[in-house]
Amino acid sequence: MIMCGIIGCALRDGNAAPLIRKALERLEYRGYDSVGEATIDNSNLVIKKDQGKIADIHKKLDLDDLPGPTGIGHTRWATHGAPSQVNAHPHTDCKEKIAVVHNGIIENFVELREELERKGHKFKSRCDTEVIPHLIEENLNSDTDFIMAVRNTARRLEGTYAIAVLSVEKPDRLICIRKESPLVLGIGEEGNFCASDIPALLPLTRNIIYLNEGELAVLDPEGVELSDLESYTKRIPEIEEISWTVETAERAGYPHFMLKEINEQPETVKNALRTQEVYIDLMSTILDKADQVFLVAAGTAYHACLAGTYMFSELANLNAQAAIASEFKERYGKLIGKNSVILAVSQSGETMDTLSAIRYALDRGATVLGITNVMGSTVTRLTGIYIGQNSGPEIGVASTKAYTAQAMILARLAIKLGEKRKTISSDKVGKLNQTLKDMPSILERILKTQTNRTKDLATKYRDRESFCFLGRGIDYVTALEGRLKLLELAYPPSLAYPAGESKHGFIAVVEDGYPLIFIAPKTSTQNELIGNIMEMKARGGSIISITEEGDQKILALSDDFIEIPKGIPEILTPIPYILPLQLFAYYSALERNRDPDQPRNLAKSVTVK
Ligand code: AGP
Repeated sequence: MIMCGIIGCALRDGNAAPLIRKALERLEYRGYDSVGEATIDNSNLVIKKDQGKIADIHKKLDLDDLPGPTGIGHTRWATHGAPSQVNAHPHTDCKEKIAVVHNGIIENFVELREELERKGHKFKSRCDTEVIPHLIEENLNSDTDFIMAVRNTARRLEGTYAIAVLSVEKPDRLICIRKESPLVLGIGEEGNFCASDIPALLPLTRNIIYLNEGELAVLDPEGVELSDLESYTKRIPEIEEISWTVETAERAGYPHFMLKEINEQPETVKNALRTQEVYIDLMSTILDKADQVFLVAAGTAYHACLAGTYMFSELANLNAQAAIASEFKERYGKLIGKNSVILAVSQSGETMDTLSAIRYALDRGATVLGITNVMGSTVTRLTGIYIGQNSGPEIGVASTKAYTAQAMILARLAIKLGEKRKTISSDKVGKLNQTLKDMPSILERILKTQTNRTKDLATKYRDRESFCFLGRGIDYVTALEGRLKLLELAYPPSLAYPAGESKHGFIAVVEDGYPLIFIAPKTSTQNELIGNIMEMKARGGSIISITEEGDQKILALSDDFIEIPKGIPEILTPIPYILPLQLFAYYSALERNRDPDQPRNLAKSVTVK
């Protein structure tokens, strides 16, 4: 999962630090709020690290000026602990004999830290990673063998991790372990390497070894030994020669960041579930006690908020208002007071309209909470209580993986609140939470089975100048988000309406061949929706349905369709049903010779009013 970038070098001779810094620059797209390096000089760890971009920290500290042929480096995308010098990696043990860099999320770090503190370990940071070197140090008290101490440490970690461990005990050796977070090895002329991703290694070597899930590698300048973390079974390394350019490698082989990020969603929705339950519980308690709740955001994040209002209403009897950030003061201004709770949602955490709404609410004594993807962003500093969505950097201007992550977190909040208020049965809580747990595989299946069909649709409708997206209930939100994706990527001025609104005006635009995209899961209002579809067919509209697999009622009425796995609870449909619309927008942009990563007139973060 894109979260941070790690690199390790074990050279035959010379200095590792300059190679590490350059490799980190090639990993900066994976995360860029702080950076650090460690090498070994005369049996001492030498570490340089700070908050900020690599170029700035290099200018300030000279990251190339660390002695020694073996070292590790890290460029951070904060998930636990705001960006700061002390939270930057590498992290060390008490004696500063062990240094670790990590990509991923240690879910049980709180209990591990408490256990280690009880044993006298002193922590410097708020970062989940810091438990790793201290646990290795603790294990060394019983495991004489360093590799065994690292192995037993990894066995205690819950969550995802790709780690590289450097120790003064064996200064020419790195120990790397991979669990879910990516880690590759490079076998080169001047030495051997490990990295989160191939771009970091390409200028050093094209001979790559992909670490398997749950595998431990011992790497030194002469070679690498692989073994399974649990069974100790050794594996003969298979070396692959990589032909990619660095630029292609940054997109993991995808032609655009947007397509890569759409395809990351099975992983990013899983990471949205890794948010500490304690924050979900705290935030839902605050929402429970509020007199008024406003979910405030812009653009796609606003659509996530709109979906959230259906979830809070349906699951927790909470009347939450979704507010477009730039309209918040005009629309709700005088209503805001000390018993108001504002939940601000922002991928970048820097959208000026959203920040203005937050500041306005704070000035009027309201409580402001946040959901954001960027730790250390202004939203995290203004709100105080916030949830990180753990989606990794979203490079494509059009927001995709951030949206589904935000919807996942809002769903978790609504379910938790419904549980507290007993407005939903424990059976329903269980079913909904199980669907959230199954969401990664549901999205995986949609991507696998529907991508080509969506691509064909984009080709078939490539010349249409306008589309209308329609849905009932919460599916109207998916219609809005699907319209925004198509609009901002391929530019046809399109419409989105509640399907029940058709007779109140917009049906006038429907003429022979006009494309109408219906979000049509099997829900409680499907009969009414079928009526809406038939209205449009009667006027010559082309019906494109996003529907449940095998739903013959809808399929029989559709000119084209995309099928979504069965059994998605109505209130969670925004998460899977948006995927084909993201793909449709992406492929429509390509069909119309638009750049999906850089749509005209748009910026990734709108930091002006
Ligand atoms: C979405 O595809 C757009 N790029 C845009 O509407 C975006 O969602 C909006 O600017 C809000 O950004 P934020 O989540 O970073 O606050």
